This record gives sequence, C-alpha cells and structure tokens, in this order.
Amino acid sequence: MLGPILLLSLQLLPTALSLPLLSLPRYSNSTGRGDNTAATTPVSLATLNSTLLRAAQLTRVAFCSSESIIAWTCGVPCDSVMDITVLQSGGNDGTVPLYYIAHDPDEKSLVVAHEGSNFAKITSILNDVELGLVPLNASRFPQSAGQNIKVHSGFQQTFERTADKLLAGVMAGLASTGVKKVLVTGHSLGAAVATMTGAMIKDAVDPSVAVSLIVFGLPRGGNQAWADFLDSGVGVTYMTNQNDPVPTVPPELLGFHHPTGEIHSVDATQSNFIACPGQDNENCSTGNSLLAVNETNHDGPYFDNITFRRGQCVQ
Ligand SMILES: *[C@@H]1O[C@H](CO)[C@@H](O)[C@H](O)[C@H]1NC(C)=O
Ligand SMILES: *[C@@H]1O[C@H](CO)[C@@H](O)[C@H](O)[C@H]1NC(C)=O
Ligand SMILES: *[C@@H]1O[C@H](CO)[C@@H](O)[C@H](O)[C@H]1NC(C)=O
Ligand SMILES: *[C@@H]1O[C@H](CO)[C@@H](O)[C@H](O)[C@H]1NC(C)=O
Ligand SMILES: *[C@@H]1O[C@H](CO)[C@@H](O)[C@H](O)[C@H]1NC(C)=O
Ligand SMILES: *[C@@H]1O[C@H](CO)[C@@H](O)[C@H](O)[C@H]1NC(C)=O
Repeated sequence: MLGPILLLSLQLLPTALSLPLLSLPRYSNSTGRGDNTAATTPVSLATLNSTLLRAAQLTRVAFCSSESIIAWTCGVPCDSVMDITVLQSGGNDGTVPLYYIAHDPDEKSLVVAHEGSNFAKITSILNDVELGLVPLNASRFPQSAGQNIKVHSGFQQTFERTADKLLAGVMAGLASTGVKKVLVTGHSLGAAVATMTGAMIKDAVDPSVAVSLIVFGLPRGGNQAWADFLDSGVGVTYMTNQNDPVPTVPPELLGFHHPTGEIHSVDATQSNFIACPGQDNENCSTGNSLLAVNETNHDGPYFDNITFRRGQCVQ
C-alpha cells in the first residue's frame, strides 16, 4: 500500500502532509539498474532549436480544437509552424485525448502529435489505485514477447482507444505522401501514450522508415523491461522542466523506470539545459528535491517560451 500513499502525498504537495513522503526511501535499485549519477553535459539552445523545437511547436498545436487544427487556424500555435497538412484528427478531449496526424513537407515527415493533460488530470490517473503495472499487450507488440514488459494500465488503456485508427492513418499517410520519416510527439499523458504509439509504429513500418519520438513532461510509463524495450527499439528523447514532479512518478520504488534520453531544463532562464546519460539519472529530474516541487513547471515554459496548455489556442 506504499504506492497510494506516495502518490497521494505527491498530489498534496507542497503542504505539511508531504513530510511523511520524505521519510520514505526515494530510490530503489531492487528492480532497476541501481543508482545512476552519470555526469551531465550542457545542451545549447541552438541545439534544442534544431532538434526539439519543431516537436514542441507541433505538440502545442495538439491542445487546440480538432476543427481549428484541421483548418490550421488555431492561432499562435498553428502560425508558428506553417505548411502543415492535417491527414487525420481524433479524440474527444475526455477518455480519448486529442491527437492528429499530419504531413510536414518541409521536413519530409509525417507527424503524430498527442495532446497533453493538465497537472490535475495526470495526477488523477497516476493516483488511481486500480492502475498499476500490467503486461504490455503482446498482440499489439509482437516483438515484445517473452520480455516480461509491463506498463502503466491507465496509459495503455488510453493508448488502446486510438491505436488502431492511428496506425491505419500512419500507414495510409506514408503510402500517400511517400515520406520516409515519422515524428511522434506529445506532452504529459500524451507523452506516455506517444511512447507506446512510437514503439507500435516502429514495429509496424518498413525498416527504411525513420521513427523519432520526442516528448515533454513524461511520467514513468512502465517497468525496467519497458524502458529497455524503448531504448533498444524506437528510442526516446524527452524533455523535463525544472521541478515538475510528473517525471518523478510513479516512483522507482514501485518498479517504474524511465528510458534513456532525458534533456533537463535546469532553471527558469530557458537557457540552461543538460543532457542526462542513462536511465533515471539522479542529476536530472529523478534527483529532484521533493521540497521544491513546482506544478507550474509541468506546462512550461520549457524553452523558446513554449508552454503546453489550451489557453493559447484560438478556437
Ligand atoms: C543496490 O544498492 C545497494 C545499496 O546502495 C548496493 O550495495 C547494490 O550494489 C546495488 N545493486 C545494484 C544492482 O546496483
Ligand atoms: C552527478 O551526481 C553526482 C552524485 O550526486 C555528483 O558527484 C556529480 O558531480 C554530478 N555530476 C553532474 C555533472 O552534475
Ligand atoms: C531559438 O529559436 C527561437 C525561436 O525561433 C529564436 O527566437 C532564438 O533566437 C533561437 N536561439 C538560438 C540560439 O538559435
Ligand atoms: C491488444 O491489441 C489488439 C491488436 O493487436 C487489440 O485488438 C486488442 O483490443 C488489444 N487488447 C486490449 C486489452 O486492449
Ligand atoms: C514555479 O514555476 C513557475 C514557472 O514555471 C514560476 O513562475 C514560479 O515562480 C515557480 N514557483 C516557485 C515557488 O518557484
Ligand atoms: C511568453 O508567452 C507568454 C504567453 O504564454 C506571453 O505572455 C509572453 O509575453 C511571452 N514572452 C516572450 C518574451 O515572448
């Protein structure tokens, strides 16, 4: 029953009720690789601009209404990335978060973008005691057989609600546009779902198609075997912002682990970024002090003043 206590305490932070949490061991190497304190390296804004900016801009669009995305008239989020042709959009902003598939001719790429969730929504899913680790759907991911991969059941349920339509849309989009790249992106709950979408697409497409997975505010989505599956397969780049608590949950103590690929924004300057080698690097969000939790950091700004929330959309 440690899990609900930990997660509940997190939701109540920062209050005096957070104190019991601090007396609990924060890390566990019983199911993971052990402490990772590998040295971080600085990452420049210019590098982020050339590697993560487009994914961030396209994710920001996913928060807007389907109508405004299809017409690409969602205001600043749409205006910052022009020449995009939307091929499919879906979700209901409820049980099925909004997503879209688009053709980005400038990048010769397809884009699959998943809407994020606000702090209250992601914590309510993470706090649901019914939702622990369950086996990854082996019929969806045939390559995963025999690896004892487990994922968060709430994330997998959300993923499964759109997986068939998404995969069909991506295969059709690859055929109709002839591009050889797919970018999968998302924020928060959408980031967790995007890791499954990316792994699914990677397994389904011809090996000549490059699949990249770039997400923001990613919670831990599965066990050590899931983190390893992502690392050896599609590969993830995920950006974490300062004292956002979401990337630190569910805790390692409950058997959840991050893949490699974290880029961490260290402070509020939007100019101090570090690359964090290995999984669950304690020099980055995994090592965040629970005294310094800042929920606002979940939405951003991450860099270039990019924040993930609906308020910026013109509907
Ligand atoms: C786990 O942590 C303990 C105590 O810090 C350490 O002695 C042990 O070597 C670690 N195990 C692994 C696999 O890293
Ligand atoms: C990473 O963490 C370790 C242990 O806390 C520390 O000794 C080391 O200086 C840190 N490295 C960087 C680059 O932050
Ligand atoms: C990064 O991109 C932003 C937005 O386009 C721009 O304002 C900024 O000057 C760029 N910075 C660097 C160092 O490339
Ligand atoms: C598992 O994946 C298959 C598609 O391969 C799908 O038809 C099925 O509904 C999924 N199972 C669950 C429990 O989501
Ligand atoms: C939390 O982060 C936001 C920006 O993300 C910042 O404006 C605010 O000052 C921070 N709060 C604290 C207590 O540091
Ligand atoms: C950053 O974005 C916010 C809205 O999200 C806006 O109010 C602010 O003026 C922007 N700052 C800069 C420097 O562009």
